[in-house]
Amino acid sequence: MMTPHIEAASDAFAKTVLMPGDPLRAKFIAEHYLDNVKQVNQVRNMLAYTGTYQGVPVSVMGSGMGMPSIGIYSWELFTVYEVEHIIRIGSCGAYSPELNLYDVLLADRVFSETTFGTVQNGDPNPFRSPSPELNQRLIQSAHALSLPLKTGTVHSCDVFYRENSQDFQRILHTHQALAVEMEAFALFHNAQVLGKHAACLLTVSDSLVTAEAASPEARQTAFTRMMDIALHSIAN
Ligand code: ADE
Repeated sequence: MMTPHIEAASDAFAKTVLMPGDPLRAKFIAEHYLDNVKQVNQVRNMLAYTGTYQGVPVSVMGSGMGMPSIGIYSWELFTVYEVEHIIRIGSCGAYSPELNLYDVLLADRVFSETTFGTVQNGDPNPFRSPSPELNQRLIQSAHALSLPLKTGTVHSCDVFYRENSQDFQRILHTHQALAVEMEAFALFHNAQVLGKHAACLLTVSDSLVTAEAASPEARQTAFTRMMDIALHSIAN
């Protein structure tokens, strides 16, 4: 075992790792998008694979749900496996009426009331930023593929089931957070502390404004667009 949570050999990961929340999504990506695939982790069923995309080495690994989980895996990938870039590929709930189901959103800033930063290194700033270089590459990829991509502030929340479901209005208006997810803040924090690069691409799977939720089939289509943007950014 290389770390308490990852059994892979020290050279088993590529410099770039795509991180969906769901480990079965990582398996799907490895099987449908990558060549020369090898499974490199199965500890706690947090599946990880390394392969190539258009000849470029790339890994994909589940992050699990929430900041404690992605905080552990991203830290270990950055520090023990010398990973340089992590692109989270996830889903989010819309706070803004201007976001529609299945839109693809690139986080250009995250807000969180989490204690993650304060506990990790005493940094109480409630905002974190992605890597400008990675974001630029992702924006260029979307452009090259003629795929629509929105950008904006995202709320990284520790709580999925909130007692006051209208609470999102306050966060939308105070911090201009367009959507909510549960991992990006910890990922960006770790990347910042360790001098690494992170980005977060999301598809809108539900809306707190309209209470709509995506059907599994339509989710898959939106997911494919997000994957195309992420993979193009790695290979070009
Ligand atoms: N991810 C997708 N939808 C979400 C929601 N409504 N809240 C938190 N994370 C999410």
